Amino acid sequence: MRIISSPLQGYTDSAWRVAHAVIFGGVDNYVAPFVRVERGEVRRRELLDINPERNPGIDLTPQILAAPPAEVEMMLSAVNELGYRHVSVNLGCPHPPLTRRHRGAGMLPFPDEVEQLFTTLAGHPEMTYSVKMRLGLDNELQWRAIMPLLPIIKPTDVTVHFRTATQQYRGEALREMLPEVAGEIRYPLIYNGDVTTVDEIRQITEAVPSLSGVMIGRGLVANPAMIAPERATAENYRDFHSRLYDAYSQRLTGGDHQLLTKLQSLWEYLLPNADRRARKAIRKATNLDKYHHAIENLFDTL
Ligand SMILES: Cc1cc2nc3c(=O)[nH]c(=O)nc-3n(C[C@H](O)[C@H](O)[C@H](O)COP(=O)(O)O)c2cc1C
Repeated sequence: MRIISSPLQGYTDSAWRVAHAVIFGGVDNYVAPFVRVERGEVRRRELLDINPERNPGIDLTPQILAAPPAEVEMMLSAVNELGYRHVSVNLGCPHPPLTRRHRGAGMLPFPDEVEQLFTTLAGHPEMTYSVKMRLGLDNELQWRAIMPLLPIIKPTDVTVHFRTATQQYRGEALREMLPEVAGEIRYPLIYNGDVTTVDEIRQITEAVPSLSGVMIGRGLVANPAMIAPERATAENYRDFHSRLYDAYSQRLTGGDHQLLTKLQSLWEYLLPNADRRARKAIRKATNLDKYHHAIENLFDTL
């Protein structure tokens, strides 16, 4: 059973991934947030984040956003140049400005476009692919029309986030549909959606023994020690935080305010059950001094 760290744009960046792997671990593979083409070129910041130099010691899969062939070619050649021969294809992003233009999950209701996408990908025999998709854009049965197209790229695995894009990240994942998808798919299946404990992983895999892995996003950002609970110590959290702090203070060039905002955003998910007053003080900190004071208070309560 493989444990995969799910991409969360803005959260599971290279700093997070490397710190996570060193301190907590338990993850077999990290999928990076997608790269995409904007104004005629692949976004440089996103390419920098998947540069192998920024991802030492981890098994990393870069991800590209499902898009028309010309853009796909650009993204493939950019990741190829960085040395990657395996790519995750994102057919799940629910962001309306992208889905409206048939990118990400926006392509799911259009099997002919997915076929074109897969045919473009198959034109690169040096590459292998995994797919990350939702059940559908606005209907939880749209995945069915994608299944017969998978042989075009013969994916190494297919991760399904058991929501429609219309659901965004709200409500509950439609876990009850897992046996149906597992029964139809002819490639290794990875479950994704709302996994927050090792017990849940056990339940899901017992229910569907053919499952090849579980992908975990917000659960792992909230509780980085989920897979290795013995590592959930105050000392490890301090170390984890200071690695992120160091990486962000080197990489962000927008001054203290930008750094503060970035660090505060981490706490939107991290350790949700930690001391409430300390968490609130972190959120409300108006400068880095106050922020440091607040996180020290929080670590002291762990
Ligand atoms: C803020 C945020 C950013 C995300 N960015 C990506 C992304 O770049 N690529 C992707 O495939 N999924 C992305 N996702 C979806 C997650 O990878 C995952 O499929 C989803 O959160 C459900 O899994 P979870 O309940 O374990 O978090 C993102 C989700 C969130 C909340």
